[in-house]
Formats: sequence, structure tokens, C-alpha cells
Amino acid sequence: MSRTATALAHANIAFSKYWGKRPYPGNYPAVPSLSLTLDAMTTRTTVTFDGALAADRLTLGGTVEAGRPLERVTALLDRVRAASGLRARAAVTSQNDFPTASGLASSASGFAALALAAVHASGLDWSLEQVSDLARRSSASAGRSLYGGFVELPAGPAEPTDAPLFARTLVPAADLDWRLLVVSLGDTRKDVSSSDGMVRTAAESPYYPAWLEVGPRLHDEVRSALLARDFERFGAAAEKSALAMHASAFAAGVIYWQAPTLQVLGAVRELRGRGVAVFATMDAGPHVKVLVRPVDAGPAAAHLRALPGVGRVFEAKGAEGAQLIPPSVGAET
Ligand code: DP6
Repeated sequence: MSRTATALAHANIAFSKYWGKRPYPGNYPAVPSLSLTLDAMTTRTTVTFDGALAADRLTLGGTVEAGRPLERVTALLDRVRAASGLRARAAVTSQNDFPTASGLASSASGFAALALAAVHASGLDWSLEQVSDLARRSSASAGRSLYGGFVELPAGPAEPTDAPLFARTLVPAADLDWRLLVVSLGDTRKDVSSSDGMVRTAAESPYYPAWLEVGPRLHDEVRSALLARDFERFGAAAEKSALAMHASAFAAGVIYWQAPTLQVLGAVRELRGRGVAVFATMDAGPHVKVLVRPVDAGPAAAHLRALPGVGRVFEAKGAEGAQLIPPSVGAET
């Protein structure tokens, strides 16, 4: 007998950054973070528990994966098996509509869709909080992609714990229309994953303690500006959070930026100098995401598209959280 479910989840981009883990097991973030779940980037994942399988199997974008990606998937499935009493191995098929491992947050949408599909396929009747906690243990940013709109994930407690830690929506997508221009600087796979990058930053950066101090303060600023619907204060604090995160990583030799990254950052400042309210943020890759009001999105995108080294520029807006897809629609080949 096999049990199957398909789920869809979107990527999210953080405005106050999660960078660094608590020094105890369970993948608890060392700092709080706040993100927007985006309509433009989607992962669709089917999980089928099948008693006939000898091992878990992962197919990502049509390619069978082994090694670390499969291990991370199996670790999540093992938690679901332990909670549900199910012993069957699973076939996992996942498809992104954007490049994997390019700093466009594929692990967030991937683990969010995987967690929701796996929980449902196993027959567990879990709350969204429990699914978010499950996803967060595999990839903390994934804990946020279960939810729509502007989403907050708290830091893990200072003292070791195994208690649930999950995200929640602060402002639903339908309530606030702030946009992001995703400035893609090529499809190169990044050399240092965000997990490895933050572990190296914690171990080797003289500025990691400074990040742990400033990250939560900037988070409070981002959060309060969001709740006040103060776009400019929100954008300014978000850009500072990204720069502080990257500065701490730089000092450990973890450098995600490429030459076009600086060029786009310069163009964002120049636009700001001309009175256009645009703010930049970057994750574990060279790409730049530019926060913009809907009215400025078209002209700002046209300006950025004309820069050397810039590939695609696409506009994203807030989306709903992860969803299950009915079996008739979700049936996989
Ligand atoms: C820079 O969630 O990918 O995008 O928990 O180790 O899987 P793991 O890390 P991950 O880190 C995301 C880091 C970031 C900032 C953010 O999304 O908050």
C-alpha cells in the first residue's frame, strides 16, 4: 500500500536576516528573522510512502539526487516516521520553477513543501505550527515558507531545548502590497551553502558577536516599521540587516558577492539619491533583491535590467503560505 500527498510552497526573502544557529542541536536560529513569502518562486513536491521501497528516493527537477540533499530529506522523513509509526520509505519528487542553490532560497520552499506533503502523506493530523517546526529543523528559513505574507521566526531560546519553535504571519499578503525585484545575476550554483556559511561565520568571524548583537536590534526595527506600515524605515533597516550579515560573513572569508552585486547595490543607492525609495537585500548568493513600492517597480526594474552583468529581473509580491494540492491535480507521472 502507498500513501501519497503533493504540496506547493513559495520561497521567501528575509528582511531581517537569520544568520547563525544556537550552539545546541535542533537547528534553532541564533537571531529572529522576518520575511515575505513570494508568489514568484514555487516548489511543488510529492511524497509517496511505499512499503516496497528499500530506501528513500529523491528526484529533484528530474535528476535523482544522492549524498547530502538525500540525507537532509531522509532526516525530515525519519521525524515523520517516528511520529506517525509509519515504517515505509518514501519517494520524493520535487520541482522548482527557479534555479536550485543559487541564493534564491530554494531550501525554504523545498523543505516547506516537503514537510507539508510528508506530514499529510503519513496521515498525521498536525497543526501548521507543528509542520513549521518540522520544516524549521531541516532549514530554518523553511519554517517561514509555511505561512503567507510577512512572517516572523523567533530566535531559539538561549538555553538548550527541544521545544517547538515555529513561524507566524505578522501581516497577511493581502493587507500590504510591497514588492521585490529579484535581480538574478546568473544561474551559477553557489559554493558555500547558507548552512555552511553561517557555521563558518560563527567559528571564524571576529564580527560574529557583533552580528548577534545588532541582528536582533535590526529585527525589532524592521518589525516595528512593518507594523507601522512605514516603508522607508522598513527598507532602511532591512538593508542594514543584510549588510551586517554579509559583513560578518566576509570577515570569515565567506563572500557571496560578485562584481555585478556591487554594481546593482550602487544603482540602488543612485536611484535612492534621485528620490526613488528602493532598498537592497542579499542572501547566500550573488543576487540582489530590491524592495520597492508597486508604483516604482516598473521604472526601477527597467533601470536595473540595463546594468552590465544583470540577467533576469523579475517582480515578486506577497503570496499565501504552503498548500496541499488535491490528488486529482497533484497526481505525478
Ligand atoms: C541568508 O534556512 O538556508 O537566506 O537552517 O541551515 O538550512 P539552514 O539555513 P537557511 O538560511 C537562510 C539564510 C538567509 C537569510 C534568511 O533567509 O533569513
